[in-house]
Amino acid sequence: MILQDYDKLIFEISQEGHTAYDLPVSEVEEYDLSAELGEYARQEPARLPEASELQIVRHYTALSNRNFGVESGPYPLGSCTMKYNPKINEDVAAMDGFANIHPLQDPDTIQGALQLMYELQEYLKEITQFSALTLQPAAGAQGELAAILAFKAYFKSIGELEQRRVILIPDSAHGTNPATAMVAGFETLELPSTPEGIIDVEAVRAAVGPNTAGIMITNPSTAGLFEKDAKEIVDIVHEAGGLAYYDGANLNAIMGLTSPGAMGFDACHLNLHKTFTGPHGGGGPGSGPIGVVDKLAPFIPGPNVVKNGDKYELEMPEKSYGRIKGNFGNFGVNVRAYTYIRAMGPEGLRRASEDAVLNANYLRVRVNEYFDAPFPNFNKNDFVLDLSRHKKDYGVTAKDVGKRLLDFGIHAPTTYFPLHVHECLMVEPTETESKQDLDYVADILIKINQGAIENPEIVQTAPHNTPVRRLDEAGASRKPVLKYTFEKHESDSSEVE
Ligand SMILES: Cc1ncc(COP(=O)(O)O)c(C=O)c1O
Repeated sequence: MILQDYDKLIFEISQEGHTAYDLPVSEVEEYDLSAELGEYARQEPARLPEASELQIVRHYTALSNRNFGVESGPYPLGSCTMKYNPKINEDVAAMDGFANIHPLQDPDTIQGALQLMYELQEYLKEITQFSALTLQPAAGAQGELAAILAFKAYFKSIGELEQRRVILIPDSAHGTNPATAMVAGFETLELPSTPEGIIDVEAVRAAVGPNTAGIMITNPSTAGLFEKDAKEIVDIVHEAGGLAYYDGANLNAIMGLTSPGAMGFDACHLNLHKTFTGPHGGGGPGSGPIGVVDKLAPFIPGPNVVKNGDKYELEMPEKSYGRIKGNFGNFGVNVRAYTYIRAMGPEGLRRASEDAVLNANYLRVRVNEYFDAPFPNFNKNDFVLDLSRHKKDYGVTAKDVGKRLLDFGIHAPTTYFPLHVHECLMVEPTETESKQDLDYVADILIKINQGAIENPEIVQTAPHNTPVRRLDEAGASRKPVLKYTFEKHESDSSEVE
């Protein structure tokens, strides 16, 4: 593609008469539908770009090259587990019997797909140590909501919903946890962390009471720390009559080593698009199954797959509030997760968690002489750096360092999260990065630190080597411009959504 076309829209490349298809002349007579469509009929033909197949392929290839993905370079986006998504997942998801079925198809004609769902449910039950599980939710946050609505239905069934109004949320929780509790109609009460960054058991003891509906714990927490007192905290909540929810989005640190069930929790969600190698980013696609204990099993969404003799069937749990997604949940992501689990086996899954934790600790130790770590002890799959000193001494913020990493082909870590650490960078290298790549990330971080000391402006104005320089992020979210105005012909300027 010629360079000056690089920034153009497909509409600007468009030239009348160019096509990407060559169809035989239709043998069917043309029929004008306008009369039937009435007011819904188009008044003029749709404006579509006209370009050759090669022009289209070059255009979208150029666009994709401007993006950054896990296949472009290290992507240590804390809390998001941007691990490599093996290609075999794609081969399996593209198989005819998986890719071309309909969620409302007669179950007799899709026994293979239902078997896959059933076996995936069973594997995930084993991994989480729960007795019931649904693949319905299409994201972690939707899984949280699905489970908290099941808590609600359970409390209603025992006549305690009016009384149990409060869900306890540690200050290190993922933001979706309090949001979920509120959306489900509960109030939230924030729990402080100890100076070591974990939940304060005494604060839990002081907070519980007859109005406690439950607690939501992200473990490992967003500070990358394992909540070692989780079991004790769950017991305290149970004694007060509440239920305990485990945010398992960070299961990548504990898979095969321990489980939410073993820690006494009542429900959890998993992010299959993170831990179990579904591709993600940009808001989707995802799959956030929830596992629950026996007493919550009748209340979870469905339908879920059951096995009757040799036959797989879809069944709605007894007191379910119904569907929260189409029949199979996000089936394509579930197929990828199933493939990953089968390819890895139990040993492989455990090893993945061990390597994820090892990689994160290796990287932290390599850079900890140069950056301050608020919780400098052994961490799990993420670790947190606090750049407050860099901001004070050199005027270089966490955001600046994140942007500067892009100049070296490394995606920015998560910035300004968790909220209880100021100038925070949250780093999660994942197990799929090699030692060479971890060393590269460490070397670049050390180099950026040196740059911050010697020439802060370079860091403050980064990125310099990316297709677009620093964007006005606040402006983009507060005043989004969703339409692009272009001039095609002098007489014909219009807007494209
Ligand atoms: C700890 C934690 N909980 C919940 C979620 C929400 O998951 P999702 O983005 O799939 O809704 C995330 C997402 O990254 C997470 O990291």
